[in-house]
Amino acid sequence: MDEFSIADVLAEVAVLVKPHFGKGRPADYIPQLASVPPGKFGMAVRLVSGEEAVVGDADEGFSVQSITKIFSLGLALNRFGDEVWTRVGKEPSGTPFNHLSQLEAEEGVPRNPFINAGAMAICDQLMDVFKDPPALVRGFAGFLAGEKAEIDEAVAASELANAWQNRAIANLMRGKGTINHDPEAVVAAYCRQCALTMSCRQLARAMLPLAAGGFSPIVEETIFPERLTRRLNALLLTCGIYDSVGSFAYRVGLPAKSGVGGGIVAIVPGKAAIAVWSPALDRFGTSVVGTVALERFTQLTNCSVL
Ligand code: DON
Repeated sequence: MDEFSIADVLAEVAVLVKPHFGKGRPADYIPQLASVPPGKFGMAVRLVSGEEAVVGDADEGFSVQSITKIFSLGLALNRFGDEVWTRVGKEPSGTPFNHLSQLEAEEGVPRNPFINAGAMAICDQLMDVFKDPPALVRGFAGFLAGEKAEIDEAVAASELANAWQNRAIANLMRGKGTINHDPEAVVAAYCRQCALTMSCRQLARAMLPLAAGGFSPIVEETIFPERLTRRLNALLLTCGIYDSVGSFAYRVGLPAKSGVGGGIVAIVPGKAAIAVWSPALDRFGTSVVGTVALERFTQLTNCSVL
């Protein structure tokens, strides 16, 4: 990848994605996200070696949503180690991110930490020892990005006012003993965590430890042990894009995580962290243009973990 001009590749990607605008639509079950202009597009690449390149709206903040689940899982694994896996599994779910009946059939144990049930179980576990998990996640994300990150309270309130499905999930998990705190408090904390606002440039910087064996060249600190970094990437590759993770791996070939704000982060282990944003989503909740951008990027640079 070092042999390419990343800025030139991004400029080419920005041209190649153009025919795909107009496909999909922004999330509207969180009303505050429905009004984000669907034509936005930004992409940022940060190399482990230090080079950085961006294109389009890469410095515009957007709702990070499920991408925050990487930060909360990383914090939980650093704090609790393998105890995390007594609450959630490590298998792809094959079902939508807010699915209910699979959770009931499997005794309230979420398939993985990236579906909503799994992320709320992690949030509950963080609540055991931290007063304010969303603030912790916000602080961690900002620290890794080298810049303060903010929670958009309007987005948090907008989701909380409509979070009926997530309430059902949290109540089911409370009934089965997967979570210990008041389900309403867990849902509220989880919605605030998801309402984090960051730009592509900030996200690419914040994800860099996953590309650099756990070390952050931004803050010059080891964030995750190397083995844990590999494991986080394994979970991203197998569970990060929910029930379209197979076709995403087929097209892009990198560990990645989507969010319904239209962001996707992807990791090129040993080389780079990538963040892309475009708000219109496919039926699985993944950015349409963002996926095409990553597909073209990996084709042009010939990078893939597979
Ligand atoms: O719980 C939800 O539905 C949202 N806060 C997050 C879902 C999400 O981002 C799914 N990812 N594509």
